[in-house]
Parts: sequence; structure tokens; C-alpha cells
Amino acid sequence: MKVNKAVFPAAGLGTRLLPITKSIPKEMLILVDKPLIQYGVEECIESEIQDIIIITGRGKTAIEDYFDRSIEHEILLKEKGKHDLLQSVKDIANMINFSYTRQKEALGLGHAILCAQNLIGDEPFSVVLSDDIIDAKVPVMKQMIDIYKQYRYSVLAVQKVKDEDISKYGIIKGTEIEKGVYKIEDLVEKPEKEEAPSNLAIIGRYILTPRIFDFLKETKPGKGGEIQLTDAIKSLLSVQPVYALEFEGIRYDGGNKLELLEAQVAFGLKNKDLKDGLLEFIKNII
Ligand code: G1P
Repeated sequence: MKVNKAVFPAAGLGTRLLPITKSIPKEMLILVDKPLIQYGVEECIESEIQDIIIITGRGKTAIEDYFDRSIEHEILLKEKGKHDLLQSVKDIANMINFSYTRQKEALGLGHAILCAQNLIGDEPFSVVLSDDIIDAKVPVMKQMIDIYKQYRYSVLAVQKVKDEDISKYGIIKGTEIEKGVYKIEDLVEKPEKEEAPSNLAIIGRYILTPRIFDFLKETKPGKGGEIQLTDAIKSLLSVQPVYALEFEGIRYDGGNKLELLEAQVAFGLKNKDLKDGLLEFIKNII
């Protein structure tokens, strides 16, 4: 069955980026010229996903407004004859089909995914954590869908991380069965490095079979008192294989102030209108 739907959990409070996240959802922070979440949405479109389901919460209406029409802007731009800008504003509202549902309490990533069950139904789906910004020649979601088509079971994106970063991630234990593809034997949410089974960390892209919902419903609060997706996937392993793909691409943690700044520079240098000016600025200040 084709992977048609992508779930974007977006109810988190963005604590690591305070104080801006007091009033601006972290998903709406700008990366060069677009909000962070738009990069994930574009990645899905390029990977032939048809429907985006955004799990929002209180204080997150800016996300819905952004992907809607903005009649005031459209009238103004039309009057002023700014047709290119008008088109780009209209295009955002027509990118793809969006649905929204609310996670009423911040009970964890696993709980957020469970909130989308009715909108997903009985089909495989993908999950995008939009603060994992990934610069890749082939969109990471597409890389993962290609592996899903081969193995037909859940696929997690993974990346090797430094020892000191292990405790920030879900970590897998697996056997490499083809270059960059692992069959997962175990996984653990944010272990201390001494207890970690490897340095292969789960990054915010998943393809999951609908069986995950049976386990999400049963999952008790784990690390940090939250219902962890990692724990539900560990239970899923008892009935189905789960694979991991060490994807090709550079990943920036958008919830980390330094990495967000690095992403601004890296993506800025890829933008043809900004590249020369940015390069000159960097040369001048160093
Ligand atoms: C979540 C997951 C974790 C994963 C990480 C990737 O953690 O629980 O397993 O490694 O995303 O970014 P969070 O960063 O939301 O604490």
C-alpha cells in the first residue's frame, strides 16, 4: 500500500527556543525565507505524499493561518500589481491537502501520533518532525519510501551521532542488511551513553505501519514521563520487523540555537538571490 499521508506533530512548546516560542510556534520560525515547517511539507510533496495532517495545540493557530488563503494580502498585492508575489502567496494555500487535529495535552510524541489515528485509518503513514531540518539531494522521505517499497514494514531514519549526544535521541540496535539499511533488534529512548546499544540515533522521519496504533494505545509513560513513540515501536517489533535507513543528507537540529544558525547560513548559501551578498558579509566579518 502506498504511503499517502504524513503526520506533523506540532503541539510541542518549543522550550529550547524560549523566549521566542512564548508567542511564536517553533514550526513558524523563519529559515532563510520560509517557516521551518514548510521545508518538511515540501519534502513530502517531492516524495509524492498526498495529505498532510498537522497535530496542533493551543497557541499554534499561526500554522493553520499560514497554509490558508490570506485575502487581505491578495487584494493588496493585486491592487499594487505585484503579480509574482501574489502568486507565491496563493501557491502556499494550494500546496497540498492539509488536515488539523489537536493534541489537548502535551503527553509526548507517541500520544501526538495516536491523536491522528482517525485521520490515518488503516494504512501506512509517515511522520515528520519539522525541527529536524535535512538538506539532501534526494528528499529523505523519498529515500525512506524507496526502502519501504522494498521491505513493506516500518522504516526509521537514523544517523550516527557523537557519544556526548546519544542521550538526546532514540537509539537503535540493528544488523546492517544492505548498505545503510538495518534490521532493528532493539531500540531505547534517550539512554545514557554507557547503556546505549549503538550510536545510531533516530532522526525525525518515520514510516510506520498502522499496527503501531495497537501499541501506542498500550504504551505507558516512559522517559521524561511522556508516552514515547520509541517505546511503542519497540513493542511493534514483537509482531513485525522494523527497519532503519541511514539516510544521505545533512541534518540540523532546528530546536538548537547554534544548529538553527548554521542551517540559516547553509541554506542561505544555497539561495541564488542571497548567496553572493551572504558570502561577502561572511568574508568581511571573519
Ligand atoms: C524525538 C524522539 C527521539 C528522536 C528525536 C529526533 O525526541 O522521541 O527518539 O531521536 O525526536 O529528533 P525529541 O527531540 O522530541 O525529544
